[in-house]
Amino acid sequence: MNVTIFGSGYVGLVTGTCLAEMGNDVVCVDVDQRKIEMLERGEIPIYEPGLESMVHENTAAGRLRFTTDIADGVAHGLFQFIAVGTPPDEDGSADLQYVLAVARSVGEHMDDYKVIIDKSTVPVGTADRVREAVSETLTRRGAELEFDVVSNPEFLKEGAAIDDFMKPDRVIVGTDNPRTTELLRALYAPFNRNHDRLIAMDIRSAELTKYAANAMLATKISFMNELSNLADRLGADIEAVRNGIGSDPRIGYSFIYPGAGYGGSCFPKDVKALERTARDVGYEAELLSAVEAVNDRQKSVLFNKLHAHFGGALAGRTIALWGLAFKPNTDDMREAPARVLMESLWQAGARVRAFDPEAMEETHRIYGERDDLALVEGPEAALEGADALVVITEWHPFRSPDFALVKERLKQPVVFDGRNIYDPAYMAGQGFTYYAIGRPPVGDAVADRRAD
Ligand code: UDX
Repeated sequence: MNVTIFGSGYVGLVTGTCLAEMGNDVVCVDVDQRKIEMLERGEIPIYEPGLESMVHENTAAGRLRFTTDIADGVAHGLFQFIAVGTPPDEDGSADLQYVLAVARSVGEHMDDYKVIIDKSTVPVGTADRVREAVSETLTRRGAELEFDVVSNPEFLKEGAAIDDFMKPDRVIVGTDNPRTTELLRALYAPFNRNHDRLIAMDIRSAELTKYAANAMLATKISFMNELSNLADRLGADIEAVRNGIGSDPRIGYSFIYPGAGYGGSCFPKDVKALERTARDVGYEAELLSAVEAVNDRQKSVLFNKLHAHFGGALAGRTIALWGLAFKPNTDDMREAPARVLMESLWQAGARVRAFDPEAMEETHRIYGERDDLALVEGPEAALEGADALVVITEWHPFRSPDFALVKERLKQPVVFDGRNIYDPAYMAGQGFTYYAIGRPPVGDAVADRRAD
């Protein structure tokens, strides 16, 4: 089937590539000439495991191509996916200008029936606005053409996006016209394993489903982070509590890991946008505000522990940082807890020596050259002359380091673990002072060995 994808960012590129992989003929359109040129050269602007080779194979097979030519894109696909950005406005609501611009472009250039699909995460009611934008443009042209608008939100996780798309738990399709459900059923049929993954519903419910999923997951995390702070104060171990509650299938083990706060492009943005949507319809979503407030506070927990350990004297210290990206297997720094930590450390006069397997370039792009930030070659190099190590992103290589070496390199054997990846008893045995999230610290509070 012929498919057009508007927006070659994260969602668009993964969607287009995976649809091409299943044998569809896909054209990806983007207004960013530089991005399209990169993609045509086979360079992928984002880091996503498995994506690059899949793009190469499908371009070589002639099933996937990239263009800035909007008219060409509109002419090509029966399916017109809108996967452009919806950045938050100052007030937290999603900015729909790019989505509506695509809608108008489709209206401008279409000359037969089109299925226009909202793939971007958009507020409830956006499909209606897309429909209006297309209709108005068609009326202005004096063209009488049929089209349908569908809400088909994506549920991709960065770092696992290809797998999530190829083996979806569910494909949500919101329509007001059964014929479009059938067209999408055909498009997505190759992605069904064992049973049909498509869940059809009305458009507004589909739009809300996306926010509901992300808000529920963010709520689970904030709930656990809140309890981890309580555990800290009560002398309990949140990891024992996590195991204790996760064993109840009604609660489950997933997404109840306490940590340094959630980041990324989705949870912070979507929780804010849903809160805003609620306000627009005269409802104060108190739980959502709390989820957000707890998360903001959580991003300071590691800094507060450092501050307390060093008795407030952070000026002139060097802190080693393992991890920068908001989670492993991505180079994405959006809303990353590491940013809040680094900025607080700088504010307090400390220096940071940081390593991340993928996000170094992005960090450099954001912060540029500065005296108080050294982006170093590897995890060991980060430790050189540092007063403490902070682990903030749980990349695999950080999970079982050579602790003897860590101890040797650090000026003081102090580790702050923002993801609870180490065993406190083991760390104490190795002679570390070890702080985690919601677990009693272990080891001697080390005397400051820094020579003044
Ligand atoms: C998320 C959703 O999972 C995905 O379905 C949606 O389409 C987009 O948003 P993503 O932002 O890529 O995906 O990351 P995810 O793996 O969900 O992690 C989000 C954040 O939550 C990360 O900062 C992670 O560290 C944090 N997290 C996750 C926790 O702190 N604890 C957990 O138990 C799980």
